[in-house]
Amino acid sequence: MSSDIKWKDINVLVTGGASFIGSHLVDRLLELGSHITVVDNLSSGKLANLSACLDRIKFINADLEYITRAELKKIFGDQNKVFHLAAVHGGRGFIATHPADVCSNFAIDHHVFEACLDTNVEKVIFASTACVYPTRLQEEIGSDYKLKEEDSNPFNADGFLSADIEYGWEKLMAEMQMISFMKQYGLKGCPVRFVTAYGPRENETHAIIALIYKALCKMDPFEIWGDGQQERDFTYVKDIVEGTIKSAENISDCTPINLGTGRKYSIIDVVKVICGILNWKPSKFKFDTSKPVGALSRALDPTRAKKLLGWEPQFDLERGLRITIDWYTKTHAIYTKFNDKILLEHHT
Ligand SMILES: NC(=O)c1ccc[n+]([C@@H]2O[C@H](COP(=O)([O-])OP(=O)(O)OC[C@H]3O[C@@H](n4cnc5c(N)ncnc54)[C@H](O)[C@@H]3O)[C@@H](O)[C@H]2O)c1
Repeated sequence: MSSDIKWKDINVLVTGGASFIGSHLVDRLLELGSHITVVDNLSSGKLANLSACLDRIKFINADLEYITRAELKKIFGDQNKVFHLAAVHGGRGFIATHPADVCSNFAIDHHVFEACLDTNVEKVIFASTACVYPTRLQEEIGSDYKLKEEDSNPFNADGFLSADIEYGWEKLMAEMQMISFMKQYGLKGCPVRFVTAYGPRENETHAIIALIYKALCKMDPFEIWGDGQQERDFTYVKDIVEGTIKSAENISDCTPINLGTGRKYSIIDVVKVICGILNWKPSKFKFDTSKPVGALSRALDPTRAKKLLGWEPQFDLERGLRITIDWYTKTHAIYTKFNDKILLEHHT
């Protein structure tokens, strides 16, 4: 059965659908013919992300942390599938400085999984993260190690588990919660572990957009958090969305799936590509080692996604960056004065 047929005319709920990744997922599901409901409290998501499709979806402004079970039943009642992306989240600067806020995700995730059971949703796909992996596997710059799903296995609650700060621990515990709901009540679906995504509609609390913003401000000396050698597996948002949809088509038993290219790029190399595209470069770099940088060398092994989903990323970094820069320059004012608050907060 082709993908288009599976998604046509079914009801799909996207929690956090006004977010960067969520809104791209909504766009794709609409192309496939689904009837979409988005529930989002717009704390970091924006209605503008959905402006091209607002008249074709149902949008519900609700807070999934404090919502009642009865209200949840009304929203989830007629949904066939749920993509659960709502979370208190942001780039490294945000999650490192908002640990208590991030703990709201314990409540949000519980409410969503419980509502899926209450209303017999066929499948729930949960936006997990590369932060569920132990940071001790990500300490060596230049290492070619790629994180495998078994490196963090919530099926084995007696085994060694470790994760990257409160945000990573919460996502890992949410995966464990999904498994518990599957074991006891037969919940179907899976967690999808997104690596560092980038693309249009992302905000400046995330590295790539922050670097584009700085380059467009012609920041000189150009400030980089850490020593610039830290490595990430930057993966374009449309690839993440395709992998997420394929996970919903193929996985029911809570098997976690990595979505990442498996390639590592240092931050300084990304800056050079961005500056090359913009045809500008700073005279000097300034490395601010007081700022949070997270794991030093991170990439996800995409072998399982290829084997179980037939998923392979289609966008290389330069192509993805060109599209992202094009979007950013068309949708943002040309900045003359740098405002570093927007690198840490959703609303300034
Ligand atoms: N961007 C990445 O690189 C990345 C990587 C790994 C995982 N993720 C996960 O993907 C999902 C989407 O992230 P994103 O980067 O696209 O944007 P995001 O972090 O802004 O998305 C979260 C969305 O949830 C909404 N939300 C927050 N609290 C809510 C609440 N109490 N009730 C209802 N809605 C609420 C926000 O308004 C926002 O639209 C998140 O779950 C995030 O943890 C993202």
